[in-house]
Amino acid sequence: MDKVYILAIESSCDDTSAAVLVDNCLLSNVTASQAVHEAYGGVVPELASRAHQQNIIPVVDAALKKAGIDKSNLSAVAFTRGPGLLGSLLVGTSFAKGLALSLNIPMIEVNHLQAHVLAHFITQANQEEHSPSFPFLCLLVSGGNSQIIQVNAYNDMRIIGQTIDDAAGEAFDKCAKVMGLPYPGGPHIDRLAKQGNPERFVFAKPNIAGYDYSFSGLKTSFLYFLRDHLKDNPDFVQENLPDLCASLQKTVIDILMKKLIKAAKELRISQVAVAGGVSANSGLRQAMLSAGEKYNWEVFIPPLGYTTDNAAMVGITGYFKYQDKDFCPIDAAPFARVEI
Ligand code: KG4
Repeated sequence: MDKVYILAIESSCDDTSAAVLVDNCLLSNVTASQAVHEAYGGVVPELASRAHQQNIIPVVDAALKKAGIDKSNLSAVAFTRGPGLLGSLLVGTSFAKGLALSLNIPMIEVNHLQAHVLAHFITQANQEEHSPSFPFLCLLVSGGNSQIIQVNAYNDMRIIGQTIDDAAGEAFDKCAKVMGLPYPGGPHIDRLAKQGNPERFVFAKPNIAGYDYSFSGLKTSFLYFLRDHLKDNPDFVQENLPDLCASLQKTVIDILMKKLIKAAKELRISQVAVAGGVSANSGLRQAMLSAGEKYNWEVFIPPLGYTTDNAAMVGITGYFKYQDKDFCPIDAAPFARVEI
């Protein structure tokens, strides 16, 4: 069979990324991040769209060059159709349309959340393949999502549990903000937690039925706890920062792992993966490995480069869909909100 060359575009939030794959093998993955948002303590949608517009051509150009192929070799263009910021998605979608029309090749729409899960199937030259087999469970944790997904096939994913309020990443970021840490706070908490005592402080854990999550109670409990201590000691945060971070991180991880362990046990699934921005957390990665040993799971943890938004994961999803000739019409418009 002829080789399939896919150019993939990801522009759902504040990373402009392009990747080239030959079949399921990654040739290049180039990402331009947007420092412009740092000063605002969060992503500013209008600024994100403008930065994507500036970045998209150089990023695609670099991805093609790094892959060592010409655009005339491409079999299809895969792009993130949603969910995400509409203005950001429009840049990637419009670019994909222009390129697909000019090269007369098909377009493949990709669900951003599915792509995070399927990142576990990306292979690289001279690297051993280590991908889950179906069915597996995937804990998808990011700034906008906290879900347990039962993955029956690349195109058959069922959300069996999800947050009823804040996402895990949001809890990290909001608690980091009240401690005066920069945005996004998750990586700072991770770094500081390494020097702290995770048993020092105890925060509220939710009591929710089934496999669903809730993080808003933890956020409130953390906020009130700090407020009470700051009344007596205005330097409380500075004096206890590593212990606060370690205790908070442990609470988030305990909440996440409890439901994942329950789901794996009850559904009798022993292939368990983690994905999304929060899967970069070193404590969570360690907790997955420990649970793997304890419960006899085969554990799948993504390389750090695939935890944040990237086009490689869009490309692998595009490759699976290409095999089924699952193409989308040229008038496809992006979706800000869409389920997996
Ligand atoms: O998937 P992602 O890049 O995009 C969004 O959903 O926006 O996830 C970003 C989230 C942020 O909340 C960030 O704080 C969190 O992932 N994050 C982390 C770490 N690295 C990124 N949270 C905890 N520990 C980390 N090392």
